[in-house]
Amino acid sequence: MILMSIKNQFNTYAKDYDKHNIIQKIIAKSLLKDVINEPKNILELGCGSGQIFKNISWNLSSYEGVDLAPNMCELHPREKNINISCFDFDSKKFKEHFKNSHYDAIISSSALQWSKDLDSLLAFLATLSRYFYACAFTSNTFKKIQDITMQKSPILSKDELKKSFSKYFKVSFEEHSYNLHFENKKEMFRYIKKSGVNAKSKLDFTSAKHLYENYKQDFLEFEVLFIKGKSKSKIFI
Ligand SMILES: C[S@@+](CC[C@H](N)C(=O)[O-])C[C@H]1O[C@@H](n2cnc3c(N)ncnc32)[C@H](O)[C@@H]1O
Repeated sequence: MILMSIKNQFNTYAKDYDKHNIIQKIIAKSLLKDVINEPKNILELGCGSGQIFKNISWNLSSYEGVDLAPNMCELHPREKNINISCFDFDSKKFKEHFKNSHYDAIISSSALQWSKDLDSLLAFLATLSRYFYACAFTSNTFKKIQDITMQKSPILSKDELKKSFSKYFKVSFEEHSYNLHFENKKEMFRYIKKSGVNAKSKLDFTSAKHLYENYKQDFLEFEVLFIKGKSKSKIFI
């Protein structure tokens, strides 16, 4: 149920996504600075409209991008040796399709916070590549909204992300906070709707009105966890 909502959210606002993904663009670029040895053969999870791919500055031999939302896949650049496919990274089909593949690196930017079984996904990914570079929003994103609406964040917490990654990868983490300022509340609430970060959290009219009246900041808070991982799988020893 939750997943359909994420898919629908990104599908519905796909065309507007590039106008509203300011933070996602910033963190995708930052994430790429962590990548070492110019991997030639990459798998990206939750590739969306291609923020990672568009910012890769070295030559690639092949690029495999995966995303749940067909309309987001449509926006991804296509070139020779780039393959974009529609998969739910939590699904059996995804694992079945990629089980014999190997990559120089796996990358994921602003997507893994949605995983509904991160342990299982990471156990699998640790067999596909030695290196994993990821950044994910944490449940402290839009903290003030959660406080006012008394709703739990729909995305994974920093501790959940760290715990799962540490099981399957030797990791280093970095946490960053960002505030995105707006000229007025209307703009801010439009952003929340179209950015996808809050997919799944739907408020009824009364709660939405309460939120609008009680949200006094002119900014939204984002918390992002950057993860650099080296697989612990025996395959890479
Ligand atoms: C915030 S966007 C980030 C897109 C892109 N990586 C970027 O940096 O702009 C999150 C993307 O993850 C995708 N996504 C969310 N859950 C997914 C899942 N279970 N399997 C595959 N893709 C998923 C969404 O469809 C969306 O395109």
